[in-house]
Amino acid sequence: MKVLVGYGSVHGSTAEVAQRIGDVLTQRGHNVTVADVKTLTHVDGYDAFVLGTAIEASTWLPEFKAFMKAFNPQMLNKPIYLWINCIRVLEEYGMSHVMDFYMVPELLKGLNVRSRTAFAGKLDLQTVDWNERWSLAARYDGHAWPTNFDGDFRDWDKIADWATSVANDLQVMPVGSEDHVN
Ligand SMILES: Cc1cc2nc3c(=O)[nH]c(=O)nc-3n(C[C@H](O)[C@H](O)[C@H](O)COP(=O)(O)O)c2cc1C
Repeated sequence: MKVLVGYGSVHGSTAEVAQRIGDVLTQRGHNVTVADVKTLTHVDGYDAFVLGTAIEASTWLPEFKAFMKAFNPQMLNKPIYLWINCIRVLEEYGMSHVMDFYMVPELLKGLNVRSRTAFAGKLDLQTVDWNERWSLAARYDGHAWPTNFDGDFRDWDKIADWATSVANDLQVMPVGSEDHVN
């Protein structure tokens, strides 16, 4: 299948996750394009979409929201797999919090989202400027100080496992299927 792995990333860690997911799907025989959603002017010809974004200010990046809005009609009835990269997931009950509050349901309406997940990301405070520090301090919705999560928390085995589950699902997914499991 022709698969788009599209990502939104400010500091590059979500881009690296996208590349890893793309590698797994390529190894499984798919024709994969890994691309920053900011660079995409169309999504024609893809059979499936694996899409992920970094979280800032407790929500998806603006360019990722814009992508989801702009290409909603072209993605209807195609299988979609969604992940987010964030630090909130590292806190107690973080996974249920991010699944409830970081998923922007109005931008997923009508889409065939077959799997969604959240990964712990990477925060490198040395690369975060003062505006971003303000945003992080004022708009992070966790209980801990976000500065407690200065580091690389990406679990590459977990990421590869999810990518493998996507590949397994695509194997049983006829092109153009309208099966909804979300
Ligand atoms: C300015 C800023 C704001 C952030 N806000 C949040 C947040 O509200 N919730 C959260 O869980 N993670 C937040 N994070 C953590 C990022 O989602 C995480 O570091 C992610 O891996 C960054 O991905 P990137 O390197 O692709 O940009 C924030 C990071 C930055 C730099």
